[in-house]
Amino acid sequence: MNITELISSELSRLEESKTYKYETALQSAQAGTVTVGGKEVVMLAANNYLGMSNHPLIKKAAIEGIKHYGYGVASARFLCGTQTIHQQLEKKISKFIGTEDALLFSSSFAANVGFFSALTNEKMGVENYKDIIYSDKLNHASIIDGQRLCRPEVTDKKIYNHGDAEHLARLLEEDKDKDYRLRIIATDGIFSMEGDMAPLPKLVELAKNYNAILFVDDCHGLGVCGKHGRGTHEHFGLVGKIDVIVGTLGKAIGGAAGGFIGGSKEMISYLRQKARTYIFSNSLPPSIVCASIAAFDLLSKDKSIVKRLQDNTAYFRKEIKSLGFTIIEGTHPVVPIMLNEASVAQDMSAALLKAGVYIKGLWFPVVPKGEARLRAQVSAALSKKDINRALSAFEKVGKKMHVI
Ligand SMILES: Cc1ncc(COP(=O)(O)O)c(C=O)c1O
Repeated sequence: MNITELISSELSRLEESKTYKYETALQSAQAGTVTVGGKEVVMLAANNYLGMSNHPLIKKAAIEGIKHYGYGVASARFLCGTQTIHQQLEKKISKFIGTEDALLFSSSFAANVGFFSALTNEKMGVENYKDIIYSDKLNHASIIDGQRLCRPEVTDKKIYNHGDAEHLARLLEEDKDKDYRLRIIATDGIFSMEGDMAPLPKLVELAKNYNAILFVDDCHGLGVCGKHGRGTHEHFGLVGKIDVIVGTLGKAIGGAAGGFIGGSKEMISYLRQKARTYIFSNSLPPSIVCASIAAFDLLSKDKSIVKRLQDNTAYFRKEIKSLGFTIIEGTHPVVPIMLNEASVAQDMSAALLKAGVYIKGLWFPVVPKGEARLRAQVSAALSKKDINRALSAFEKVGKKMHVI
């Protein structure tokens, strides 16, 4: 079959099944309000939780970074792509999240893709071994893809029900007497479609009882959860208790790009040698590295930013509910507004954009059938006035569409 015909028919299928992803271009910087089609609208769809994407201090640090260290490094880290700022940022990250050391990647997608196979595909001097990974059913695509690279002859994989520590405990118990070399429990800290938290205290306990490594992808918890924004582990009082933490610089911490893995000194030294997405890929550019250093410094100094995000979130959650919308309860700035029908979510997202709110709808297969929703993402960049403007639009559109 001709390749163009083949992909055209797949593209048509995506359109027919309403899963084709359209891109709406912003004519401004990412911020509390943005310009779309010449009109200013309130942004409720960005991972820009702390408003760092357009923060004057962060932009200044990025510009200074380019001035001093150049635009790019044109090298992987172990060749000639390590500048002092990369080492500085790794130290800052590990201090902030509470791990012994940290390692930068070009994205957290790359971090997740590099992590699992770096451990499981290597003999490390052990003959005839087998490892096992237990993974939450709703883990992020990059965790799933990372695990796909683990060779099946050396890695077993089991999926446990979403957030279900009891199911995980049963699986661990079943395998208790099997001679696995490594047992890895993998979970998101915060699940981005639901805004809910992994049951970390129970997972820490299970990891300890069954001698497993606990891996937490906290891309949506970093800068958001816990009093200081250290992450989901801070929220639960578990700083220092998680074996491996993955985070992104592409959401709360500036929103540009870049990711990292935090862990013990030995784990990070090992990944520096073995993670293929680290070794065979370019180093992060100075603009991002310097802006990220500034973002962690700002977060460490100014406690009011995380507080503002948490206050904005509590306010939005309370008010949207009092308008009569059904949300998934929680405390995270990801607020799923349940509409059930995909067509309602699609129509409402379009109507809200006209009414001055940028928000995206999610429907099957991104979320289960019959659970279509709008996903609001609250930000510290939003003023009370912006939030109230968004809430008025929700009220107007919700009533018109007989959703409330
Ligand atoms: C849980 C989780 N992990 C990893 C990623 C990938 O992040 P990055 O943009 O840094 O590759 C995302 C982003 O969608 C995410 O939500």
